[in-house]
Amino acid sequence: MYLPFKFFKFIFCTLLLINLILCYDPPKRKFHNSIIIDNRLLIFNGDTNTTELFYLDLSKSFDNNNLAWSLIPEGSLPVYTERSTAVLSLDNSTIYLIGGYMRNNITFSYDYSNLVYSYDYRTSAWSTPKIDGGVVPPRQDMRGVIDNTGTIYIFGGFNEGSLFNDMNILQTDSKTWTTLSISKNLPIQCAGYTANILPNGNIVYIGGIEGVNVYTNVTLVNINQIKLFDTNKHEWSYMNATGEKIDSRQYFTSVLTPDGYIIIFGGTTYAATIAGLADVSPSLAMLDTNKNPFEWSIPSNSEVNSPPSIYGHSANLYNDYMIITFGFNLDTQLNSSQVYLYNIKSNNWVTTFSPPAISPPAKQTSKALAVGHILCNLIIKRKILNTLQMWLIVITIEHTGIFN
Ligand SMILES: *[C@@H]1O[C@H](CO)[C@@H](O)[C@H](O)[C@H]1NC(C)=O
Ligand SMILES: *[C@@H]1O[C@H](CO)[C@@H](O)[C@H](O)[C@H]1NC(C)=O
Ligand SMILES: *[C@@H]1O[C@H](CO)[C@@H](O)[C@H](O)[C@H]1NC(C)=O
Ligand SMILES: *[C@@H]1O[C@H](CO)[C@@H](O)[C@H](O)[C@H]1NC(C)=O
Ligand SMILES: *[C@@H]1O[C@H](CO)[C@@H](O)[C@H](O)[C@H]1NC(C)=O
Ligand SMILES: *[C@@H]1O[C@H](CO)[C@@H](O)[C@H](O)[C@H]1NC(C)=O
Repeated sequence: MYLPFKFFKFIFCTLLLINLILCYDPPKRKFHNSIIIDNRLLIFNGDTNTTELFYLDLSKSFDNNNLAWSLIPEGSLPVYTERSTAVLSLDNSTIYLIGGYMRNNITFSYDYSNLVYSYDYRTSAWSTPKIDGGVVPPRQDMRGVIDNTGTIYIFGGFNEGSLFNDMNILQTDSKTWTTLSISKNLPIQCAGYTANILPNGNIVYIGGIEGVNVYTNVTLVNINQIKLFDTNKHEWSYMNATGEKIDSRQYFTSVLTPDGYIIIFGGTTYAATIAGLADVSPSLAMLDTNKNPFEWSIPSNSEVNSPPSIYGHSANLYNDYMIITFGFNLDTQLNSSQVYLYNIKSNNWVTTFSPPAISPPAKQTSKALAVGHILCNLIIKRKILNTLQMWLIVITIEHTGIFN
């Protein structure tokens, strides 16, 4: 029985490895972060009890109903956080993770002892960089963007019932935090907005909620009233967008296309309770920033095969695709682990992702991993894998009683 046992053990361990790492099945969530590095769509955080870091390989084709998620076991986060912001460094090497509702990774109680974490993609290690300068304030529901000098801008946000309208910057080269002192043209306190930086250095802030305190008079920001922050002059200005009628919203996403359109998707109305949140229409719209004033439009095919109404999802642009992940489905009232794909060239929702013909060299995948992925894709259903594993456990126990 010795030889068959060794063989079983080998098969068992191989299947376990494939199942755990290569056929990773991520828990549903919303208010998470997603960043693309090196053809990988990395996902982490959210309102979930896991610190796992996992990704979708964008160097391969996939169908949005048959996703091959992979776990980065050594990349688990040192903290639980939701409603935080995550920004990629200019050289694509480092993720800066800032704020959110932060909880201790062991006790699960709120822990704001450290508000900035960084992740080194090359070593898969999280660390707590020493931040000089001003005090980093705890904030939720804010979005950071990085300019071409490596400065991250974070506007306002929410904390303990209050909303804020300050502009905080993190210079990634010197790791210096500064709250800019601006007195002219300050916007109303705001959270739950989207932010995109244009090539001219203006940050475009859209939507969200505004007001001083959620217990007094918070309302949705009029989606036509665009806030602009000039990162060169550190000045605020405003613009009334024109075009088609778009519902105002919070907890939505935006991506900036190379030809200057900001595509927004999803989101929800404002209500005092989570249960009161309702869907918004249209779910997808485009803001043309090449025009002055900016102009809203609804692509004609964008309502065909449209995903359900979701909020708290994430959106990333990769070549021709806007990739929507997870979020809360207002139709089913359930958290989601779905992925939706919008093709920004043909302007329609699609179900298949195809990598560009000549993709930049991806991080070298070992032969064993490649074989594992193929197996994972062949076997597809975890159920089959799990059944196989159970069967092997039973056989092994029958024959030996122990593993060694
Ligand atoms: C997460 O863990 C905490 C502490 O164990 C628990 O109170 C909470 O209900 C859990 N949440 C979920 C969604 O499992
Ligand atoms: C929790 O985070 C600390 C760093 O803050 C890390 O050293 C530790 O390994 C983590 N523990 C777990 C169980 O993830
Ligand atoms: C970072 O990645 C983007 C693609 O996501 C690429 O266009 C850019 O050239 C990369 N920058 C560096 C410095 O590697
Ligand atoms: C309501 O919000 C506005 C700004 O949106 C602020 O000027 C005003 O003081 C707030 N009123 C109360 C009662 O908080
Ligand atoms: C936008 O429209 C509002 C209401 O019509 C007006 O009060 C405001 O001055 C306009 N803002 C700009 C920047 O044109
Ligand atoms: C969604 O996830 C959050 C956090 O895990 C949980 O508290 C909530 O109950 C979930 N909602 C539903 C409808 O399952």
